[in-house]
Amino acid sequence: MEFFQYRDRTLHCEDVPVPVLAEKYGTPLWVYSQHALLHHLKNLQRAFAEAHPLICYSLKTNGNLAICRLMHDKGCGFDVTSGGELFRALKAGGQGREIVFAGVGKTEAEMRMGLETGVLMFNVESDGELALLAKVAQHVGRPAIIALRVNPDIDPHTHVKTTTGKRGTKFGLDWDRIVAIGRELIGSAWIRLHGLHMHLGSPIFTAEPYRAALVRANPLVEELRAQGHEIQYMNVGGGFGINYRKQEAPPADAFAEAVVPPVRMLNCRLILEPGRFLVGNAGILVSRVIYPKESGGRRFIIQDAAMNDLLRPTLYEAFHRIWPVTPPAEVPAPPDDYEAAIPNTQPAEVVGPVCESGDYLARDRQLPAVRSGDLLATFSAGAYGMAMSSNYNGRCRAAEVLVDADHHRLIRRRETYEDLIQTEQL
Ligand code: LLP
Repeated sequence: MEFFQYRDRTLHCEDVPVPVLAEKYGTPLWVYSQHALLHHLKNLQRAFAEAHPLICYSLKTNGNLAICRLMHDKGCGFDVTSGGELFRALKAGGQGREIVFAGVGKTEAEMRMGLETGVLMFNVESDGELALLAKVAQHVGRPAIIALRVNPDIDPHTHVKTTTGKRGTKFGLDWDRIVAIGRELIGSAWIRLHGLHMHLGSPIFTAEPYRAALVRANPLVEELRAQGHEIQYMNVGGGFGINYRKQEAPPADAFAEAVVPPVRMLNCRLILEPGRFLVGNAGILVSRVIYPKESGGRRFIIQDAAMNDLLRPTLYEAFHRIWPVTPPAEVPAPPDDYEAAIPNTQPAEVVGPVCESGDYLARDRQLPAVRSGDLLATFSAGAYGMAMSSNYNGRCRAAEVLVDADHHRLIRRRETYEDLIQTEQL
């Protein structure tokens, strides 16, 4: 939060007052802090330095080209999950050898694109995918380097919709099948098995699931090597939690302590695929109150950001701090602890203009009084915010702005009504 600070009772992003941005670019508006992005990346790089990891920014989290470019300039490769993301990674300056290609349903066309790009590896998740990849590789005339995505059957204790490393989800190959699959790949002309991959879920708030998953995966590496495979990479995915509600996420060091020693023991190059950790707390969503309204004994704050902008509260009941950009003197900044009583506030439903009762950014939230025209900031919105936005209800997607000290620049313009129909025909 230190990159988004209240000074003289006005929220600033770095050195820029947020009202200046809202005035210039309109609302709703995504505002990102460049220093926050770099700070989080440095934090991760420092924590994992001993392992010299390849950090593949998971660009599904926030695919804006300017953000991807920044990550790349500071040493990241990319984790991509579709042809569209691969295209984006390349546009941002990524080279094939820094890109890992994930995804449970890669198509033939996507495999060809990955092979022709020379991606570092494909993370393979099913027998069907292995068979097709071998065929496509033969056709392209270039062997496919792969990691098998292991489903280690570890519960990451996160939302059921973002739990991926547990048996029975669609992700990965059951861990007890890996050795048999390795055996089938011995001598394969078109598939080279060079690593294992895991991604347990997101967000994860303790290091324990990583530790447990590596305990399960490490013996697999030994067995695959004994089969003759040159296992060089251990990819532990992403998932590192961030502070949404309070100081609730462990520092990067805690994750590194769980991951680095076992991976070093294997003599494998570590790959990480962080997303949320890097951008989540580097972005806010700024909105403007349209109408405060009392109805059915409740206070509604109808503002101009909606579930089409930030879907996380609707989809996962996710908690994002929300606070006025210029709060009253009695409540100058959002509370550090939402579990304690918050004086001078009343409960409110923070909702958008979309025609669904599921359209909310916060429910039953203690907030000070607000009036039409006031600005609100929704915090921790840099990850899976804009990336999951849509045009539902004929709403134009919001603009994105990147702040660097006292400079700011548009990194994605607001959509227009013409944009809404440009791919359609009467
Ligand atoms: N690697 C793989 C294979 C993944 O599936 C994901 C995220 C990541 C890396 C990056 O995870 P991160 O470091 O960002 O936690 N939309 C949800 C989160 C979905 C995560 C999907 N996979 C949300 O808004 O919470």
